[in-house]
Amino acid sequence: MNQNQIKKSLSKLTLGEIKYFDSIGSTNDEALAWAAADAPDLSIIIADEQTAGRGRLDRKWFTPQGTALAFSLILRPSKEEKPHLARTVGLAALAVAEPLQKLGLPAQIKWPNDVLIAGRKVCGILIESVWSGEDVDCVVIGIGVNVLSGSVPPAESLLFPATSLEEELSDPPERLEILHDILDALINIRQKITSDEFISEWENLLAFRGQLVQVETNSAPTTVGSLTGLESDGSLQLRNEHGESITVRFGDVRLRPLA
Ligand code: ATP
Ligand code: BTN
Repeated sequence: MNQNQIKKSLSKLTLGEIKYFDSIGSTNDEALAWAAADAPDLSIIIADEQTAGRGRLDRKWFTPQGTALAFSLILRPSKEEKPHLARTVGLAALAVAEPLQKLGLPAQIKWPNDVLIAGRKVCGILIESVWSGEDVDCVVIGIGVNVLSGSVPPAESLLFPATSLEEELSDPPERLEILHDILDALINIRQKITSDEFISEWENLLAFRGQLVQVETNSAPTTVGSLTGLESDGSLQLRNEHGESITVRFGDVRLRPLA
């Protein structure tokens, strides 16, 4: 992977600027700094290796050299998009899940920020914002996809099982092909981010829908209920054993199927 190959592979898409690194700490850190400066809408940072890849709450994201797709996309939301910024994680998850489904894989979204194949995590998403006073100026969408099996961390270090495209398909597509298809999907899905149809498409791809799940947080008791769908802001809806509707908002929440 190099800058010229990336530019050639993405040349038909309407994007901002592209920066490639053989090795970087975290593409999200670089993208946040660039977003706070002058990065145009839909600019991208891609790296072959991350030495300090991050998940939520600074949990580590494993990205060894030559094995994974790791990139961050900068969005400068329009006036119409700003009231719907909470939907950005759904935009990213749909943009990853849809191309994987086209490859014949049973990709689903583990709310809020992971994409699974047959119950194992193949992709993690980290959304971060650049603020200008009270207003969000830019959103950074960080996406990590496990492509080759070498990108999957050792099982004993994981709280949730993981997989890679190589483990699911004998001959996975090249990383740049996957990158192209994710960005193409994201540009298309973004056009309907303000619509009700967007929420239905996101709901249709949710893992564990209709099943009993538990939601763990560090600050409140675990909630158990049947996963029924999404609110219009992308919050998760559960129904508890008393038939009451419960709303789970974004934050430090971990979703698990009830064993
Ligand atoms: P979980 O994935 O356990 O539900 P989470 O989604 O809340 O938790 P995140 O912060 O979103 O956790 O993801 C970070 C976690 O992902 C790390 O703690 C690590 O266990 C796991 N992880 C790190 N690198 C990878 C990878 N390449 N593939 C799959 N999982 C990874
Ligand atoms: C998670 O599951 O917690 C999210 C992981 C997000 C990983 C991606 S890889 C590209 C970008 N750079 C980072 O440091 N994190 C995101």
